[in-house]
Amino acid sequence: MGCDGNNATPPSPAIAPGAGEIDPRRVAEKLVSRFGEGGMDPRVRDVTPAFDAPFFQAGLAGYSDAAMRIIARRHGCPYCVTEALLDRTLLAGGRGFAKADLGEIEDNIPGGDEDRPLAGQIMGSEPAEMAAAAIKMVEQGARRPAEYRDLVAEMGHGARPRDEETQRRRDEVVEAGPTARASAAHSVSASLDLSVSSDRSFAAIDVNLACPVKKIAKKSRGGHWLTQPEGAIRILEAVREATPADIAVTVKMRRAYDETDEMRENFLRIFDAAYDIGCAWVTVHGRTVTQKYMGPSRWDPIRELVRRNPERVIFGSGDVWNVSEIFRMLDYCSSSWRGGLPAHPPTGLAGVSVARGCIGNPWIFRQARDILAGRAPQAPSIEQQRDVLLQHFTLAMDVNRLWVRGEGEAREERAERHTARTMRKFAIKFAEHHPETLAVRKRFIACKTMQEWRGVLEEHYMSEVTAS
Ligand SMILES: Cc1cc2nc3c(=O)[nH]c(=O)nc-3n(C[C@H](O)[C@H](O)[C@H](O)COP(=O)(O)O)c2cc1C
Repeated sequence: MGCDGNNATPPSPAIAPGAGEIDPRRVAEKLVSRFGEGGMDPRVRDVTPAFDAPFFQAGLAGYSDAAMRIIARRHGCPYCVTEALLDRTLLAGGRGFAKADLGEIEDNIPGGDEDRPLAGQIMGSEPAEMAAAAIKMVEQGARRPAEYRDLVAEMGHGARPRDEETQRRRDEVVEAGPTARASAAHSVSASLDLSVSSDRSFAAIDVNLACPVKKIAKKSRGGHWLTQPEGAIRILEAVREATPADIAVTVKMRRAYDETDEMRENFLRIFDAAYDIGCAWVTVHGRTVTQKYMGPSRWDPIRELVRRNPERVIFGSGDVWNVSEIFRMLDYCSSSWRGGLPAHPPTGLAGVSVARGCIGNPWIFRQARDILAGRAPQAPSIEQQRDVLLQHFTLAMDVNRLWVRGEGEAREERAERHTARTMRKFAIKFAEHHPETLAVRKRFIACKTMQEWRGVLEEHYMSEVTAS
């Protein structure tokens, strides 16, 4: 089971009275006139220069692997987050880990230069393990697994990861350059360059304090930390301390654990501490942990948070199902804009996390870019859908080839079968853009090979029918 919990709920409109009347084009005009082309809050660009538009692809366990991220980026998505990776899974270093019930390491391999800037998301229960996991992610596992375990022990006993010796070893690894790190990241691919180049692979380490999946062995993790603010803060301190200063640490949080006043206060305690510790921003999901993914997200507490913290960079998440909602959330949660405040310092919501709204719909990013550029957003043509469906399958094969066992044809077959299986959940969403949704969906679900996948594309995606 991943970080998804129960996500089989139909799209719900967020609780945001009046947001339906907000005109996305007006919001885009306002953004561009404040911040210039792309409409991005300069405070974010100061941290991550290539993050140049106010939206990004969220971490989505089971979905947001390098293949999905690259497709999103090819459609204008400026920034992506990996799915949540359990610190222990990361430190254990492989598929064999018995409790690896979150993202798989392989799915989180950065997809080369095309997959940047990228935030690697981690989640866990122990500050020392989280710190070591952050280091391992940043280094792409360049040291031997035992060395990371030693780091946990060192840090668990109060030693700082920035001890001279540790820092020296870390610098050596970073300076070792692409070859050493690329081999650690098992990067070979025919059509996709998944090698880790000499630049840093991750622009940020994102700490997950949001996932609603239940505790393990009575230990908190993810959103359950919202019941124990002091523990959450220790984790943030340890991760910020361990992560090189030029790599941002960011946080993903639910707006509270539940609706009680105590939990609202816990949220604020962690939220304030995150910035004091030096985290660059917090993304707030407008649902509580107990809500999981059901019922509406509330944008009004996010708006209140932005209003009270004009100097802090805040992103919003929850119930962003189409391109208009990106702009509506931006405007709704930036009520202070309406007061005609000067552009500097910026005071609104910095950007929006796009989650379920981009599964099988990378065009949402292109449409957002269109609106920012003053163009009318277009639905994807059948030809564009065909291209993306083929690209996505091919990229997913590239990712899966990296980890499936075996050699030669057997390996290829395994990768293909796995890809066909995992592409089903995307196909269900992609099919919604096709006029014959049900027929197309049924065909994709039955696919076991790339040839069969191509067969569906040839049969249903060749004529230029107007897409829905
Ligand atoms: C299947 C699924 C997997 C998710 N996995 C992650 C994850 O790994 N990391 C994370 O920060 N959020 C994760 N989320 C939460 C989303 O990023 C997002 O905050 C949430 O879905 C609310 O946005 P939405 O209502 O627009 O989908 C996941 C959500 C779903 C539905």
